[in-house]
Amino acid sequence: MFYGATFKLNFFINKIELLLSSGIWKLPEMRKEEIKALNKQFSKADTEEVLSYFLSEFKGRIALSSSLGAEDQVLTDLVMQIDPEVKIFTLDTGRMFPENYDLIDKTNQTYHMKMDVFFPDYEKVENMVSEKGINLFYDSIENRKFCCHIRKIEPLKRALSGLDIWICGLRSDQSVTRINTRLLEWDEANGLLKLNPLVDWTHEQVWNYIREKKVPYNKLHDKGFLSIGCQPCTRAIQPGEDVRAGRWWWEQPESKECGLHNRPVT
Ligand code: ADX
Ligand code: SF4
Repeated sequence: MFYGATFKLNFFINKIELLLSSGIWKLPEMRKEEIKALNKQFSKADTEEVLSYFLSEFKGRIALSSSLGAEDQVLTDLVMQIDPEVKIFTLDTGRMFPENYDLIDKTNQTYHMKMDVFFPDYEKVENMVSEKGINLFYDSIENRKFCCHIRKIEPLKRALSGLDIWICGLRSDQSVTRINTRLLEWDEANGLLKLNPLVDWTHEQVWNYIREKKVPYNKLHDKGFLSIGCQPCTRAIQPGEDVRAGRWWWEQPESKECGLHNRPVT
């Protein structure tokens, strides 16, 4: 608890200083040390303990970002037990699978909650489609990243506004791009903290939790989808294939991030 109050105060002061001085977010040495210390403090803690701490320390300034995949359903179940008022949001890109919409409803009913749904700016989507085509993402990595930017990154910025920390379902063994993921990170792109409570969980742990606790899950998982993204950019995978092999399957593993999770500085 020692770090909590000091961290919050420093965090707030730093944010103001940075805004006034440079206009862009940078990570000062001091904050790096604080993040390191919190990672150390919670290195052996269980997930409930981690979530209880951060949900209470950052109450009102923390939210869970849910893709409606298995990890995020586990996190939804965990956070709802600790703080049923916590904000949970999802980004609807306009190209999602119908199974996602069913799960939004089911999750809301199960936990008596209301998930916030963020949509992309319609004018930007219309311009993009008119200039580059409806399925532009297949034409080049540049186009694919542009589409992710309009449909995911911009709405994410709105979803994160007013927050000091967001909770994500990243696991370090999901892909080569995620090996160095830490429990607590500084999200340089969005200028706030990012908490990855399941960073050390395995795929099996996630599914054991879902089965044991009867957590509502995305029906796409029963159809061979391990990682869930937009419908045109996600396919089911074969047994033995990498967890994220079905995401942007025409690209190399190293480029398979949409920009939601650019590697942060820790
Ligand atoms: S992605 O960057 O390739 O799309 P992935 O699907 O592995 O990410 O999900 C990792 C984490 O990013 C999720 O656990 C969730 O916290 C967040 N996330 C991904 N997609 C969404 C979405 N559509 N809405 C909200 N959060 C999302
Ligand atoms: Fe566009 Fe595909 Fe990215 Fe979804 S995953 S935002 S459809 S490029």
